[in-house]
Amino acid sequence: MAPRLAYLGLGNIGRAMSKNLVEKGNLDSPLVLYNRTTSRAEALAETIGRDRAKVASTIAEAVKDADIIFTCVGTDEVDKETYATALEGDVKGKIFVDCATIHPSTSDELAKVVAEKGAEYIGCPVFGAPAMADAGQLVCVPAGPAGAVTKLKPYLKGVVGREIIDMSDREPSKAAALKLVGNSFVLLMVEMIAEGLTLAEKTGVGSDVAQNFLETMFGAASPMGAYAKRMTSGDYYKRDEPLLAIDLGLKDTNHILSLAKDSGTRMIGMETVKHHLEAVKEHAGSKGDMAGMYGAVRKESGLKYENE
Ligand SMILES: NC(=O)c1ccc[n+]([C@@H]2O[C@H](COP(=O)([O-])OP(=O)(O)OC[C@H]3O[C@@H](n4cnc5c(N)ncnc54)[C@H](OP(=O)(O)O)[C@@H]3O)[C@@H](O)[C@H]2O)c1
Repeated sequence: MAPRLAYLGLGNIGRAMSKNLVEKGNLDSPLVLYNRTTSRAEALAETIGRDRAKVASTIAEAVKDADIIFTCVGTDEVDKETYATALEGDVKGKIFVDCATIHPSTSDELAKVVAEKGAEYIGCPVFGAPAMADAGQLVCVPAGPAGAVTKLKPYLKGVVGREIIDMSDREPSKAAALKLVGNSFVLLMVEMIAEGLTLAEKTGVGSDVAQNFLETMFGAASPMGAYAKRMTSGDYYKRDEPLLAIDLGLKDTNHILSLAKDSGTRMIGMETVKHHLEAVKEHAGSKGDMAGMYGAVRKESGLKYENE
């Protein structure tokens, strides 16, 4: 019999991963869904099919009969609260798979408390925007006990993800650190595109021409092409729900800068990213999107935040 799965935290990433687990994970029991806002879990269960997904109204109920429990909530604080509640019951022999982006110290702490309860903790941060998660194209980085990672692997490549960076038997905190290094590449790329497109507009070249250049040079489907398109089309301020909420972008940035400080690494670029993310938050509040850095750079350059 296949392991019974549960998913806690049905935000942008959790919803997409849950859908793919059901569609491609060869489960032979319904995926159990839990979310703080239950209506989101109910809506997802309706989409997936009530015979293939079951809503739990508490964390305890979701964890009780599951063998593998995925978690993906927003911040470190919420992650710790989620695990504290999940670990109140008998969890011996269960595997917890944490897909959130968290500080390595949080990851270490969670690995320890989970092990103390006789369960196993896999830090499994994921790379990819919500559209990639939806398409099952995430890059997954599992780290933790090798036996547990082996049991998890059937649900990663070809199900929720396109590739694995296997860090079996390394501390989950190392995967958390890799995720932050990876996010520094992404955040700096977004900063770079925001500045370049603004320069193109200010010099009369045209941001559309600069976007065309990025697409021609790096490919329209590349992250460079995709972010340039989001910016020129206004898809950095027009959505009701952000693709990466500004508070989560700031959380990642603060984690990256904290790792840099602790390791004696100077990251001037990330300090600039933080400055622009704070400007997005000030302009758009908590509905702001990380890609709004374009608006922040525009504003500093004497243009309107919104490009239309
Ligand atoms: N979006 C991305 O591009 C992306 C990519 C890779 C990794 N990540 C990481 O994955 C994690 C989730 O990101 P996301 O974009 O899916 O986030 P999201 O859409 O903002 O969803 C956040 C999730 O956390 C829950 N939550 C928030 N505050 C809570 C609280 N106080 N108590 C209980 N639950 C709470 C939310 O529940 P409600 O529905 O009740 O609010 C929701 O399930 C984050 O660590 C993020 O950094 C995101």
